[in-house]
Amino acid sequence: MPTITKVLRIFSSQKNTLASALIRLMRPGLFLRIVRRLKAKIMNEMERWESEEGVHFLKRIGIQKGNTVADFGARIGHYAIPAAILVGAGGTVYALDKNAEALVELQKKSAVRDASNIITIETTSDTGINLPDQSIDALLIYDVLHMIPEISRSALYKEVARVLKNSGFLSIYPKHVAEDDAEGHFKNLTAEDVAREVSSAGFITQNKICGKLSHGNTLVSGCVWNFVKIT
Ligand SMILES: C[S@@+](CC[C@H](N)C(=O)[O-])C[C@H]1O[C@@H](n2cnc3c(N)ncnc32)[C@H](O)[C@@H]1O
Repeated sequence: MPTITKVLRIFSSQKNTLASALIRLMRPGLFLRIVRRLKAKIMNEMERWESEEGVHFLKRIGIQKGNTVADFGARIGHYAIPAAILVGAGGTVYALDKNAEALVELQKKSAVRDASNIITIETTSDTGINLPDQSIDALLIYDVLHMIPEISRSALYKEVARVLKNSGFLSIYPKHVAEDDAEGHFKNLTAEDVAREVSSAGFITQNKICGKLSHGNTLVSGCVWNFVKIT
């Protein structure tokens, strides 16, 4: 009997602990604090990506100090900012996007980071790259192509070939393809299909580099594909 009493006492004390934990959780102040902490954790993850991990990844794909880089569809700069840190004061990063608001956000971020060598360009056509011929060492198109219809993609590849130096390279992150959360114009295309499409537009596949990548506002595993143009 004394054992049963003990078990009942433990159960009721646990019940109280659980109940009070639930009540505490339901208090709006605590709930907000948890949300804020989670937000801070995500922010820190992306800040670390932009200032360290992203810089290492872009170095791995071949961007060097002093390079001129173009980031087509840069959004808020998850790749443009690490690229700017990597190329340093002697290099330049052109961040192109059709979304003016995203570019304003990018400019604000680059002002507080060591990334004053970013020049933002708001694009006005689906495919235009407002940059001079043969001026770019590395051109990034990351998580963008699925948003562009096939006919416009062909025009875009021509623009890429025009602005790339003969020694330069194109790097593509073919996100939202058939095998990876299919979306938009890539619903029926695999990453291999996209690589074939780029090759048939006058490029040679150079290599595929895999690792931790930025996607949206988080980090994921994925691969980017590098191409050089046929000269
Ligand atoms: C999913 S976000 C990717 C952002 C960034 N590249 C990254 O990986 O973090 C796609 C961005 O491409 C831009 N975009 C889509 N189509 C575009 C086009 N035809 N010309 C310029 N920007 C475009 C969108 O406005 C958006 O900011």
